[in-house]
Amino acid sequence: MSLSTVTTIEALRDTLKPWRKAGNSVAFVPTMGNLHDGHLQLVEKAKECADKVVVSLFVNPTQFGVGEDFDHYPRTESEDAKKLDAIGTDLLFLPSVSEIYPINHRTSISVSGLSDLHCGKTRVGHFDGVATIVCKLFNIVQPDLAFFGEKDFQQLTLIRALVRDLNIPVEIRGIETVREDDGLAMSSRNGYLSADERLAAPALYRSLCQARDRILAGEQNYPALEKRAMLSLREAGLQPEYFSVCRQSSLMPASTNDMELVILAAARLGKTRLIDNVYFSKTPL
Ligand code: PAJ
Repeated sequence: MSLSTVTTIEALRDTLKPWRKAGNSVAFVPTMGNLHDGHLQLVEKAKECADKVVVSLFVNPTQFGVGEDFDHYPRTESEDAKKLDAIGTDLLFLPSVSEIYPINHRTSISVSGLSDLHCGKTRVGHFDGVATIVCKLFNIVQPDLAFFGEKDFQQLTLIRALVRDLNIPVEIRGIETVREDDGLAMSSRNGYLSADERLAAPALYRSLCQARDRILAGEQNYPALEKRAMLSLREAGLQPEYFSVCRQSSLMPASTNDMELVILAAARLGKTRLIDNVYFSKTPL
């Protein structure tokens, strides 16, 4: 394997120091592991844009709520390391929970106005956990560039705000959602789906595409559109949590004057929670 793996912040910094001294640029891809083609696409893009690529694999406890799947989250470190090695990743950072959160760790970051919307309504504290770990990882790795998936559109929006507000010197790149052939967005949690649930799951992306196409065809009544989509998701056997036509910049409900839109949706299918989105520009009629 040409991939090096480090588990401590000190070892990570010792590895990065000579790279920086030699003038190499560093791209960073944070993950929670159980890597699929969506994650690997981020790494491929990172490789195209920088001399060295660092991937972190850390199942971050502070972004899981009580009763969520932290204990059962799929942990497949050795398979993940093989996949990362095969595509030429330079360094894997695989810290323990105590390395990241030593006793008496007190600081938390909250991106107000974004943390409590959409997924944040049902996953209370989730986005504070995400903002805090991403900020810490940026300070630990100090990358020039960092890559995130558009699949987690609210997360990407929040990280852009975090970096801007705290003047973190890193360039954020968003990467298009990688999907299965039937449209389902790849996710580490798709492995929880039973065979029947897996057949029903693409309804989420289908309903997003239908809503987008209706808006592009001139539909102006967004609340009615959202209601119809929630109904069609229920008919497909999903339990929708939200389905919201939003302004891309703020993730607040869109008005008919807004041209840059994103439709965000989350739904439960048995014990699995799926999220997805489509974003697009409305052309003047
Ligand atoms: P995780 O769910 O492992 O995702 C890691 C990165 O992969 C995120 O940027 C996510 O948006 C991206 N990703 C996941 N599925 C994707 C897909 N189908 N297509 C493209 N990109 C995809 O997101 C997290 O981890 C965590 O919240 C993290 C940012 C690592 C902080 O703990």
